[in-house]
Amino acid sequence: MQARQARIEAALDRVLPGAEIAPQRLHEAMRYAVLGGGKRIRPLLAYAGGEATGAPLEAVDQVGTAVELIHVYSLVHDDLPCMDDDVLRRGKPTVHVQFDEATALLVGDSLQSLAFGVLAGMSLPDAAIQVDMLARLATAAGSRGMAGGQAVDLDSLGKALSLPELEFMHVHKTGALIRASVLLGAQCGTALDTARMEALDRYAKCIGLAFQVVDDVLDATASTATLGKTAGKDANDNKPTYVSVLGVEAARKFAGELLDEALSSLDKLAGQGERLAQLGRFIVTREF
Ligand code: IPE
Ligand code: IPE
Ligand code: MG
Ligand code: MG
Ligand code: MG
Repeated sequence: MQARQARIEAALDRVLPGAEIAPQRLHEAMRYAVLGGGKRIRPLLAYAGGEATGAPLEAVDQVGTAVELIHVYSLVHDDLPCMDDDVLRRGKPTVHVQFDEATALLVGDSLQSLAFGVLAGMSLPDAAIQVDMLARLATAAGSRGMAGGQAVDLDSLGKALSLPELEFMHVHKTGALIRASVLLGAQCGTALDTARMEALDRYAKCIGLAFQVVDDVLDATASTATLGKTAGKDANDNKPTYVSVLGVEAARKFAGELLDEALSSLDKLAGQGERLAQLGRFIVTREF
């Protein structure tokens, strides 16, 4: 994991414009938001997806960069006063606190554009697959994916959501990008047959939902110091979460069931899913 994290850090550093390039303040803020923090789970999942299909690492570097840029954009906007109004992220002041709100807005916009630029700049042997990957990332990030889930999240403050509503919110706001990360990594290698692609997708879908269930649990159980972001925020803001709806123990159990389903899907990958299995276990048992 550490080797891959270092690799993605270097790839992100290469693609982000230098802070000396105009407009300096925006580029400085983009680098502040992206570099030197975060678990890099989405790139790690892309590498693991790529490992399942024998993808060249250099290609997955690009995919991992693109998904992490979209993720960081979503965090910068998620923390804005008009959304979760958070002051701490990855152990540092949030972008709008360190810079200002307009800059944070533009950092998000710019990271999103950069992400698509990185994917478009790849030269995969099959251009049709590359276009399909662009479409996959677009769907995962947009109103039928992450941004849509965020809309539901903001609309749900103070509401009692049913389990299906909660699942819809989590599958979109967090699950969609995680799911895409695995599949985009895999698409950099040899094409999988339909059954294997479906198995990989089922793994990715379960892990994507489990990730946000665990995020809800950690918000309620871990400290601000361990998380590097404000703990107890969901209850404070009266947000419906798996913890508010099911309680901590049942939420943990649900994440464990999703992991089991994810792991059993990997059986169909005939031994090519070991790294995916490791990451799945990490996602569900992590403490930060
Ligand atoms: C936090 O994501 C936001 C969610 C989608 C739950 P991560 O827990 O992956 O945050 P970083 O990237 O490690 O900071
Ligand atoms: C974040 O959900 C989802 C996205 C950023 C898309 P949260 O609002 O729970 O994430 P944290 O807890 O602030 O990291
Ligand atoms: Mg949020
Ligand atoms: Mg938040
Ligand atoms: Mg959270």
